[in-house]
Amino acid sequence: MTEGRANIVVAKNNFHGRTISIISFSSDLTARAGFGPFTPGFRTVPFGDSAALADAIDENTIAFLLEPIQGETGIIVPPDDYLPAARSLCTDFNVLMIAYEIQSGLARTGYTFACDRWDVVPDMYLLGKALGGGVVPLSAMVADRNILGVLHPGEHGSTFGGNPLAAAIGTTVVAMLTRGEFQARSAELGAHLHRRLRALIGDGVLAVRGFGLWAGVDVDPALGSGKQISLRLAERGVLVKDTHGSTLRFAPPLVITEQEIDWAVVQFADVLRA
Ligand SMILES: Cc1ncc(COP(=O)(O)O)c(C=O)c1O
Repeated sequence: MTEGRANIVVAKNNFHGRTISIISFSSDLTARAGFGPFTPGFRTVPFGDSAALADAIDENTIAFLLEPIQGETGIIVPPDDYLPAARSLCTDFNVLMIAYEIQSGLARTGYTFACDRWDVVPDMYLLGKALGGGVVPLSAMVADRNILGVLHPGEHGSTFGGNPLAAAIGTTVVAMLTRGEFQARSAELGAHLHRRLRALIGDGVLAVRGFGLWAGVDVDPALGSGKQISLRLAERGVLVKDTHGSTLRFAPPLVITEQEIDWAVVQFADVLRA
């Protein structure tokens, strides 16, 4: 690798937050417009296309950063051979595979990590959100010691990094996940949620995507934007975030019950009918 010429390959239509390096390669204009200066060194390839990834990797590529399932874009699930192919390419070309599992990780899809669905182990996981148990802000970069070991104690500080309360909560979340109970709940109740949502296809719903307690639902645009529908749902006590256009993202708490799912889907069906 040429010193100072490193590049990182990223996937089109990603969402990795709003820090300056991240929005440097964001396809989302609302996150980029009016900001800058941007960080160079990123190459964007279509999500789900391993041939494009192979073409983009050169001798200066150090990492491939991707969401195994693209969340903010509408819960877009890649072809089944994509993650295994990306893993092989990263191994063959000595490129770090970085799985951004901020939304998809920690049992959301019925697996501990979405990568598990395809039996893929990346070199790094980026985690957040649920890691703080919904109580404290907490994020983490997780990797083996041979990767993390390049930073020595005291070399890379952070004001809030290692915050004792947040770290204690994160450790508890990880301990809870070792029991497998939440992954199983997410898989079982998620199958129920997806069944109930798919039953609305033809009655205002065009498509349902995702796994576990995570569903991207495309609504007929004639019925309103995702934002408008999510506000109508909020009036009924159902919190569902819109993504782009007329797509909604259902991501209920992993402790939700089957009865609560049924109630929420009835509210959704009523809103679509109204
Ligand atoms: C998936 C995801 N990543 C990152 C962020 C925010 O990241 P940051 O606080 O680094 O901008 C959000 C929320 O805005 C998010 O939904």
